[in-house]
Amino acid sequence: MTNLNYQEKIPNNVDLSTDLSLQRALEHWQPKFKNWWTEMGPEGFQASDVYLRTATSVDADGWATYGKVKMPEYRWGIFLNDKVEERKIHFGDNIGEPVWQQVPGDYRSILRRLIVTQGDTEPASVEQQRELGKTCPSLFDLRNLFQVNVEEGRHLWAMVYLLHAYFGRDGREEAEALLERNSGDVDNPRILGTFNEPITDWVSFFMFTYFTDRDGKYQLKSLAESSFDPLARTCQFMLTEEAHHMQVGETGITRMIQRTLEVMNELKTDSIDAIRNAGAIDLQTIQRYINFWFSSSLDLFGSEISSNSATAFANGLKGRPDEMRYEDHSEKNSTFTFDGLSLENTIETQTIPMRNAMNEITRRAYVTDCEVGLKRWNRLIKKSGYNIELKLPSTRFRRNIGIWAGVDVNPDGKIISKNEYDNKLGSWLPSENDKEFINSLMVQVTEVNKTAGWIAAPNRGINNMDIGYEYVNLKK
Ligand SMILES: [Fe+2]
Ligand SMILES: [Fe+2]
Repeated sequence: MTNLNYQEKIPNNVDLSTDLSLQRALEHWQPKFKNWWTEMGPEGFQASDVYLRTATSVDADGWATYGKVKMPEYRWGIFLNDKVEERKIHFGDNIGEPVWQQVPGDYRSILRRLIVTQGDTEPASVEQQRELGKTCPSLFDLRNLFQVNVEEGRHLWAMVYLLHAYFGRDGREEAEALLERNSGDVDNPRILGTFNEPITDWVSFFMFTYFTDRDGKYQLKSLAESSFDPLARTCQFMLTEEAHHMQVGETGITRMIQRTLEVMNELKTDSIDAIRNAGAIDLQTIQRYINFWFSSSLDLFGSEISSNSATAFANGLKGRPDEMRYEDHSEKNSTFTFDGLSLENTIETQTIPMRNAMNEITRRAYVTDCEVGLKRWNRLIKKSGYNIELKLPSTRFRRNIGIWAGVDVNPDGKIISKNEYDNKLGSWLPSENDKEFINSLMVQVTEVNKTAGWIAAPNRGINNMDIGYEYVNLKK
């Protein structure tokens, strides 16, 4: 049973009221968070009533309570999955020992860094997406955007709770800094590159929620295995919310492609100009957006060969996603073979200690998960009778982190000359012309039951509500 205290200032299931100094510290941080939300959160809709899901507990009927709320009054709470009694460490060097309820001194700084890095991405994405309401394709989409935003806010709360509860003064300072860094800020940017990329159009938003939120899923899955039990339980609950974010991305891209195919079928053409003139997005442009966001998100997993990831695994801090699916949970003497980069700048088979390959193993699980949507989209395209296939570019393409950083690789994964790379890169990524075209489509649609022309209407509403339900009451 979870002990929920929803009536308090900070809804929580961590018995906050029994720890007065922690409660005070969080109550001190709360108004700063709210200031950040009003200044850096969704622009222009803070007074609107939005049909939102709020977590009021972690059990089946409590974690998704729906109702209309003004976003600044959203009840951001602290929820951890229930404790599993006698939980034991299940990977690394200390298998079988009890998991930790406090931070072991030796791992303090590395755990803090893991939590801060995860925490930093949450408010970053809210900042990246803050202008999108102005160009929403429908009230349904507007509501989904805000749902993602408030939940990223709650994920920030989740990490800030850990910092405050387990890391003393350093933790409190880190919690403040999480509100001080800002996405894209020249002097004080967010920690990870992708989270400084502006998201000013909905094509990018759907790509971000499909590809970048999915990186979040895999990071959370790895942390959900952690021997630091409060971190594991926090991440387990965050994953239930994260699933919706990726669904927003997947259905968004699907609806975009559906609309394109509709236009292609109506006009009986695959001419890019004709499709664009009809106000839909050609599949070639969608491919370039996939190339951009997929390659950018791959960097978030870190380097292919990493001693940090080996240490985090050995110490039991961060496991592999779905660790129990693997046979060997120690991986002390095992190896991993993959296509690496030789000193002569060619692709060469290399074998490294398994523990050093944890980033790459996680990245591969992520790529397999990304493929699912691609297969679905390609089925739609094929069913419409067109011979165009959307593809994920090679994981070596356009990397900025890891062994492929700065190596000239084409989307098929082949190393090419610098000259060829420089000449062709522009054709693999959204061009200025593409961006201009996409921006020209971004017109706000807020009439009930209407959807912008570049994207198909959703095929089902939220929480069994009608598609035509007024998901956001705009402040007139
Ligand atoms: Fe999140
Ligand atoms: Fe997310």
